[in-house]
Amino acid sequence: MTAGRFISFEGIDGAGKSTQHAWLVEHLRARGLAVVATREPGGTPLGEKLRALLLAEPMHLETEALLMFAARREHIEQVIAPALERGEWVVCDRFVDASFAYQGGGRGLDWKKLESLSQWVLGDLQPDLTLIFDAPVEVAQQRLHAATANPDRFEQEQAAFFERVRSAYLRIASENPQRVRLIDATETPANINKVLEKIVATF
Ligand code: TMP
Repeated sequence: MTAGRFISFEGIDGAGKSTQHAWLVEHLRARGLAVVATREPGGTPLGEKLRALLLAEPMHLETEALLMFAARREHIEQVIAPALERGEWVVCDRFVDASFAYQGGGRGLDWKKLESLSQWVLGDLQPDLTLIFDAPVEVAQQRLHAATANPDRFEQEQAAFFERVRSAYLRIASENPQRVRLIDATETPANINKVLEKIVATF
């Protein structure tokens, strides 16, 4: 049995990460690996209910952060930790970095509060690899508007919000060079597939 691996996908809305998430899951399965494909917020029955609230209901920024971490607590307990213990791969569309980027960078929530929530909920758990899909905000917004008829509460945010989210992601990438790989999301999907293939081959 191979050792389990935990990979998270991150990036601003419209960067194209969900398409690549689906591709990598299929790529790994085609190589015979047991892969759990999941997402945040969500990934459990309760987490998906919290997701529906988070994406639709206006709320205080700390409520938003707490609900993100509540959903994450459940997700780790029910899905992520058991899969890693079974030696499977967990490929997660967003994880804790999204809370730092969106609630910290985007909304301006104190980074230290997020660090203490992260310590509380994650303990030592961190992804083995985080892929941050990076694109200029205008490019991501164009893609988002072309693909989304009914934007959710986050997707409706202005460009300045996404500039702050993007800056926070770039900060996370530069502070965690061992764990994080920055992916140029302006490349074609086929080229990005090749980049991902190379990165996971080194695992
Ligand atoms: P998705 O569109 O990538 O599925 O993610 C849903 C939204 O939730 C996205 O706009 C980013 C946001 N989000 C946060 O604000 N904080 C978090 O911790 C997570 C996981 C997602």
